[in-house]
Amino acid sequence: MPRSHRHAVTNLALLTERHAMQTVLVLNGPNLNLLGLREPSVYGTHTLADVEALCAAACETHQFRLDFRQSNHEGVLIDAIQEAGRAQATGALAGVIMNAGAYTHTSVALHDAIKGAGVTLIELHISNVHAREAFRHQSYLSAVAKGVMAGFGVKGYALAIAALAGMTSAA
Ligand code: DQA
Repeated sequence: MPRSHRHAVTNLALLTERHAMQTVLVLNGPNLNLLGLREPSVYGTHTLADVEALCAAACETHQFRLDFRQSNHEGVLIDAIQEAGRAQATGALAGVIMNAGAYTHTSVALHDAIKGAGVTLIELHISNVHAREAFRHQSYLSAVAKGVMAGFGVKGYALAIAALAGMTSAA
């Protein structure tokens, strides 16, 4: 095969690989913008920017593209979940890792959004919510989540990305 053609084949393989790269949406809810400052004895001293860097490294390891977001607004989180459902339907998105913060314990609207969007979602908490106040034991997300990760600190984000990679590669 002529050298120029060999290049063409390699480039095509790279393009196909890039096209096949799925996105992971990491969605953070209220007050998570304050990570590092907020109750460090509970949530640690890592900032949200540190968490984003950690997620970027985990996504690189598992060949995912990272979409990392934070909002203090329930409606913005719902819009993101609906958008994720549409992206997953096209095959562009592997799933969502969501730390919904306090909305975990209050939001029927988030429950309905996850169910309605039909999106693969891992519920994540930095702290072990079950070892804390009783109001944190209730989750509106768990029943519609693929899995739940709690109590592993910010490293839980990387573990959840690895779990998502395991789920999608087993398919
Ligand atoms: C949290 C636990 C929630 O109860 C709390 O409201 C948060 C953070 C966690 O990551 O441990 O904001 O989701």
